Order: sequence, then structure tokens, then C-alpha cells
Amino acid sequence: MTDVSKLTPFHDIYKTIRTDLNAVENLLKEIGGSSNPLIAEVNKYLFQKEGKRIRPALLILCSKLGGYRGTDHVFWSALVEIIHTASLIHDDIVDNSFLRRGRDTVHAKWGPNITVLLGDFLYIQSIALALRTKNHAIIDILADVTVRMIEGELIEYSITGKPELSEDLYLEILDKKTAQLFSASCRIGGVLAGSLPEEEQRLCEFGRNLGLSFQIIDDLLDFTGDEATLGKPILSDFREGRITLPLIHALRRTKGQARVELLHLIHNRKTEKNAGKKILAQIVSLGALDYAYQRAAAFSQKAKAILAAFPKSPHRESLNRMADMVLQRRK
Ligand code: IPE
Ligand code: IPE
Ligand code: MG
Ligand code: MG
Repeated sequence: MTDVSKLTPFHDIYKTIRTDLNAVENLLKEIGGSSNPLIAEVNKYLFQKEGKRIRPALLILCSKLGGYRGTDHVFWSALVEIIHTASLIHDDIVDNSFLRRGRDTVHAKWGPNITVLLGDFLYIQSIALALRTKNHAIIDILADVTVRMIEGELIEYSITGKPELSEDLYLEILDKKTAQLFSASCRIGGVLAGSLPEEEQRLCEFGRNLGLSFQIIDDLLDFTGDEATLGKPILSDFREGRITLPLIHALRRTKGQARVELLHLIHNRKTEKNAGKKILAQIVSLGALDYAYQRAAAFSQKAKAILAAFPKSPHRESLNRMADMVLQRRK
């Protein structure tokens, strides 16, 4: 395992693209402004507290990796972040989650009705802004990824509480709901840079593997994270009946009475006293947390191997460090 004392926060990796990221922040605030006071108020709440800005950073770094010297990467990074934001506020309703980035979720503050509408507004606004550019290559990527993301969320929700979920289907859900937007962000960077088709393909695969690793760690942090650091509730996926990789593996490893007990805990997660603690003890003893971490590490490793095909540069190094950071992150 990596030496935890050498943890590098993302903001350190972002040093070389700080000016571009600041421009993205300004644009987000500008786009978020509205003559409608409610839209302006919710957008202000949404965009003032920064998330990790991973998707904009990926887009910017991948454009620079391809030698891009224009300024459109700022606009497309802001759009990708808006689409991500829309997905988060809808996701928090679906997941019954009341904490995001260490604060109340939008639906906790304004209720689900306003939140659904605001999410719709952000999705359509991003498509409308994209259409104005007439850049059909990128518009296609964004329309496609948004559809897949929502499909991923739909599949995940529709199989809630069903412990027979296979690792393959789990990975398909992760691919759709998370990895595709990582992949699209990287690919858009390549499109802007005029990358060759095989380079664009490599950027897609780099982003996809990174996204899979990122979401497996996110699912792991639901069991191992610290709520204050993470800024999101822990054991919340478990309570909501999401069968994530640690549980899939734990179920695979148990037979007989132990399996009956595990299934009992999953089915009675809302009524059984200390269900979260009990499930955590079970998955730890079955090595399921280690297994999930190893799977995430393998995807991160794959991402780095794909990156290695690009010529050495500071931007390649930053992307490489992002692949490490995805595994080490605590928030
Ligand atoms: C949260 O994404 C949704 C997942 C894909 C797990 P991030 O962890 O990138 O969220 P922010 O933008 O940094 O808050
Ligand atoms: C959400 O996955 C992915 C999308 C928003 C599409 P999660 O439900 O695991 O994300 P968090 O944990 O709420 O951030
Ligand atoms: Mg969620
Ligand atoms: Mg999560």
C-alpha cells in the first residue's frame, strides 16, 4: 500500500492549471447568475462551495496533454461541472442523503420539488449553452454521457436491496453513472487538442478506468470514511440498500449460517440495532474491504498504464498523480 504520510491533496496536483481552474470558477458563477432570484440563490449555494473539480481538471489536463493552446477548455470544463452538479442534486434525492460537501444537500434546504426542477434546469441549460457552440463532436459526447449517467442511476436504484447483484453488473452501473463522465471529460480535452482517433480512444479508456477506481473507492468510503472529512454521510449506501463491492464480495465468500446472517442484516438494515456496525465487522473479517481496494487499485493501475503511452510531460505527470490520489483520497 502507498505511504499515507506522502498523501498529496488534489489541489497540489492542480498547481499547474490553477489559472484555468479559477477561470472555470468564475464562469460557473457567471452562468449560475439568473434574473430569477430562486435560481440565483440555489446556484450560488451550489457553486460557492467547491467540490474537488476532478472532471474540469481532467478535461484541462487532457487538452494540454494534446498540446491545446486555446481557451475553449474553460467553457467545456464548466459545462461538465454543471452536468455533474445536476446529477449530484438529483442523486441526493434518490439516495435520501442530507449531507454533501459538509453542508445540507439542496433538497434538505429547498425540498425535493425545487431540487428536481433546478436539476432539470441545469441539465437543459448546459445543453442549450453547448448547442450555441455548434461543436457537434463535443455536443454528441455530452448528450450521450448524460443519458448513460441517468441510466446508471436508474439501474442502480431499480435493484436496490437485491443481494444477488453480480460484480459484472455492479461494474456496469459504475461505468454508466460515474466512469463515463470521467471518460467524456478526458475525451473532450483530446477533441479540443485535435488528437488522433487512437489518442482520443486512449484518453477515453484512461478516464473510464480512473472513474471506475474513483467510484469503487467512493463505495468503500461509505464503510471506512469519516463523515466530517468526507462531507457526506457514511453507511448511507448500506442503509439505502445499495449493494456495493464490499458486500458483493462478502456474500460471495460466505456459505451456510454465516450467509444467512449476512442476508438477514441486509434485509433488516433499517430495523436491526447497530446493523451498520455489524455489517462492517462482517465485511472486515471476510477481507471484503481489502478486496474492493485491490479492485480499485487495479483500475487505477490500468489507467496509469494507458497514460504511459503518451510522451512524458508535466501534464502526463499530473494525470498520473490523479490516478494515485483517487486511491488515497479520504474526501
Ligand atoms: C461525487 O463526485 C459523485 C461520485 C461520482 C461519487 P465527487 O466526489 O467528484 O464530488 P465533488 O464534486 O467533489 O463534491
Ligand atoms: C453517484 O454515486 C453518481 C452520480 C451522481 C451520477 P453515489 O451515490 O455513490 O455518489 P455520492 O456518494 O452520493 O456522492
Ligand atoms: Mg449518492
Ligand atoms: Mg457514494
